[in-house]
Amino acid sequence: MKATKEDIFKIRKPQPRYSVIKEIEERFSPRHFSSQPIPEKDISSIFEAARWTPSGWNFQPWYFYWAKKGEQSFEKIVSCLGEYNRYAEKAPILVVACFIEKVKGRKAYFRHDLGAAVMSLTLQAQHLGYYTRQMGEFDEKKLIKLLNIEKAHNPFVIIALGKLGDYAVIDQSLLKRELDPRPRKEDFAKKI
Ligand SMILES: Cc1cc2nc3c(=O)[nH]c(=O)nc-3n(C[C@H](O)[C@H](O)[C@H](O)COP(=O)(O)O)c2cc1C
Repeated sequence: MKATKEDIFKIRKPQPRYSVIKEIEERFSPRHFSSQPIPEKDISSIFEAARWTPSGWNFQPWYFYWAKKGEQSFEKIVSCLGEYNRYAEKAPILVVACFIEKVKGRKAYFRHDLGAAVMSLTLQAQHLGYYTRQMGEFDEKKLIKLLNIEKAHNPFVIIALGKLGDYAVIDQSLLKRELDPRPRKEDFAKKI
């Protein structure tokens, strides 16, 4: 089986019913990344976008550990991913997104806030031509130990970040997964 980038786009790129910003129209979560390195200035912009995310009580309850392909810490992150998520080892950058459980007797927003920060990062990355895929399935205990993650930081998702891979060169089983349709429910907002 063969597929071009255009075939993948036909299936995976959003087909919005109404006008949306370019980054949303282009975003999808690929499993096929190019290993092309990301320039430092782009990495800085991507994390800067997360920094300006709104958060409950302005607690900013997030922390990101990240590593570049080729580094020991990158391999450590990869070793915590299940077989199912090992496609991520091709990406030039892996990010471990952690929440900080700040509550202090108030309503707890930390998971919500981390999600918002990850989305800010994702949209900034998309704006710069990079794709992301979040992975919630990993060995958390092993990751905490291997990366020496601080006690207050709770790893929640690992994010693969990079340019889209070349679909002319892709493992067949991965291609099959990449050709999965990307349905969206239609009924999710009601005028009351
Ligand atoms: C919290 C979270 C956890 C996820 N975990 C995984 C995962 O472990 N493995 C994987 O391949 N994709 C994972 N995904 C990616 C989703 O499957 C993907 O975002 C969803 O199918 C919608 O596709 P789209 O992002 O292309 O719109 C996760 C996404 C989120 C937000």
